[in-house]
Amino acid sequence: MKRLLTLFLASALLFCACGRSAEIPQTTRPANTAANASAGAGENAAENDNAADTDSPRILVAYFAVAENSEVDAVSSASVLMENGTAKGMSQYVAECIAEMTGGDLFSIRTETKYPGSYNPLADYAKREQDNDERPVLTTHIDNLDDYDIIFVGYPIWWYTLPMALFSFFDEYDFTGKTIIPFDTHYGSGRGGTPGVIAELEPGAAVEKNSFAVNQTKAADCWQDVADWLKEIGY
Ligand SMILES: Cc1cc2nc3c(=O)[nH]c(=O)nc-3n(C[C@H](O)[C@H](O)[C@H](O)COP(=O)(O)O)c2cc1C
Repeated sequence: MKRLLTLFLASALLFCACGRSAEIPQTTRPANTAANASAGAGENAAENDNAADTDSPRILVAYFAVAENSEVDAVSSASVLMENGTAKGMSQYVAECIAEMTGGDLFSIRTETKYPGSYNPLADYAKREQDNDERPVLTTHIDNLDDYDIIFVGYPIWWYTLPMALFSFFDEYDFTGKTIIPFDTHYGSGRGGTPGVIAELEPGAAVEKNSFAVNQTKAADCWQDVADWLKEIGY
């Protein structure tokens, strides 16, 4: 099994190496949205721009992207998009689309671990982390979880499932009574069964099964798909 995934990841790497640091065409975002309107969340707490509007559901868009948790220049890493000269992880980019379309606040899940910036060492590191069932220490925390009803949670698929940082994230919070809406980026594994994994980790939450999953090759161009999906699930 490991051999198969290594082959699969090797071809992903080939793709990434060729298409690394792809520049997002500036026509990708709808004209009425600002490219950098939603900056990453602060170090300690999500910013709560929509809490004042008591009628609409209060939305948080939390995401993990290795580009923000990497020990080397993110631009040289495998899964990065360039927007206006800023390197972004695929999952970060999709998170920003969702935040902008829903009016949600962004929260970046950051780890104490600085992951290797090149692909093979990263793949090995992540595999070891998974085999050892590790829980990477998180350095960002949601201090105002009570302010939110709906939590979008985004991540790349790593070794067919959630990165271990997401297990740390779900260990840290009890989302009972809230709605969790997963989204992921991947290179062929789709959802990888992750909504079900999240439902097991957060039994008190309503977890949307119809999560959004986009192949990394399409992530830069996902606006319409995100809009259609949000409509489908009622946002
Ligand atoms: C350690 C590692 C493991 C991965 N495992 C898978 C996998 O099992 N299935 C898959 O489809 N893609 C896999 N990928 C590809 C990533 O899911 C894909 O590149 C994703 O878009 C990265 O998102 P990010 O830029 O937000 O980190 C893997 C990538 C890495 C770095």
